[in-house]
Amino acid sequence: MNFIDIIIKKRNKKTLTTQEINYIVDCIGKTPDYQFSSLLMAICLNGLDKRETADLTKAMLYSGDIIDLSEIPGIKIDKHSTGGVADTTTLVLAPLVSSCGLPVAKMSGRGLGHTGGTLDKLESIPGFNISLTKEQAVKQVNDIGLAIMGQTKSLVPADGYLYKLRDVTGTIDSIPLIAASIMSKKLASGADGIVLDVKCGSGAFMKNIDDARELARTMVDIGKMLGKKVVAVISDMDQPLGNNVGNTLEVIEAIGILKGEVKGELTEVSLILGSEMLVLGGIAENTAKAREMLEENIRNGKGIAKFGQFILAQGGNAAVIDNYSLFKQPLLRKEIYLKKGFVGAFDTEAVGKASAALGAGRISYDMPIDPSAGIIINRRKGEFYDSSEPFAVLFSDSEEKMREGTEIFVSSVKISDKKTEKAVFVPEIIR
Ligand code: URA
Repeated sequence: MNFIDIIIKKRNKKTLTTQEINYIVDCIGKTPDYQFSSLLMAICLNGLDKRETADLTKAMLYSGDIIDLSEIPGIKIDKHSTGGVADTTTLVLAPLVSSCGLPVAKMSGRGLGHTGGTLDKLESIPGFNISLTKEQAVKQVNDIGLAIMGQTKSLVPADGYLYKLRDVTGTIDSIPLIAASIMSKKLASGADGIVLDVKCGSGAFMKNIDDARELARTMVDIGKMLGKKVVAVISDMDQPLGNNVGNTLEVIEAIGILKGEVKGELTEVSLILGSEMLVLGGIAENTAKAREMLEENIRNGKGIAKFGQFILAQGGNAAVIDNYSLFKQPLLRKEIYLKKGFVGAFDTEAVGKASAALGAGRISYDMPIDPSAGIIINRRKGEFYDSSEPFAVLFSDSEEKMREGTEIFVSSVKISDKKTEKAVFVPEIIR
């Protein structure tokens, strides 16, 4: 088999065989980046069909370790978001579903570009350790029902290579490549079932509903072909999901939800995803019953208690739950006032970029971040803003970052003189 022939075949819109796709993944590390880049562009332009995408997922899945969670009794359900802004659902639903009896052993990632990452958020809790070995994670899940850790380098190394190359060759935006990248990692993480949160809108990879549906359908079908229970929820990313953007700020918002003090879209999406997890995990008969269980564990304090137990188990200071001043505090705070009017639209990606510019995010994985940096947004789409109080508050450690973050944030919001519509986004469920 010859790599150049495969590039030409895909360039000519032909379908690749299973053997050819296995060969491509085998060639990682032995074939120059320029040939891989060319192939990725051909795939990006001409696509992969369902069978090719499933073959690519499978070949990538077997490129490294596959985690065995069989030492944890019960059905293990993972959850994955395609990435968004103020998208803190994991911090809400992981302790909440665990408090309902579903064991959660989750591998999470770091933030990159405009999107945040669960590991960075958890590390904003003083002392929190995300570097668990598999043995430590399994013991912790068996002891308290929940562990969240960083993904090891040996999990789907093929994706590590391909993703980096896609990032610098304009080949990220390809539904089959995104589907294979996400599903290979999720399938390698050892769960019996997966709930996918496919984001749609100005802050997501998928900017429109048709693409979001296609990505969701592709991932659900791949999961099923490979013998897993998979459900996808398509949720709105046309404005930040929560009101807080930035690592510490997002942890504080998640704590507020678990205490029953904060309501809104972040709570709603977390409850929808959590309900699907409880049903897939056999804990609840249907999503209505699952939702009741989750809401009850917010009311009776079991969700927030589980979060505290989880923080302690991973070396963190659980006192942050009742005392937010124990988080690292930002040096600078700036109130943003905008002109009076109705909130029209957010460029959500720009909101994420503003937060990153303030110090909350990074553009390459080795950059340090500032846990205290970020934005609190006080209005949502369709709401009236009368200019008497700050539209948002920005936090940073440097004047220069504050200037840059302010500029990006202010240009990310449109205020209209005319009444604007509230966002009515009913999440779609693809099974
Ligand atoms: N997230 C991933 O893990 N991979 C992609 O290709 C896109 C988003």
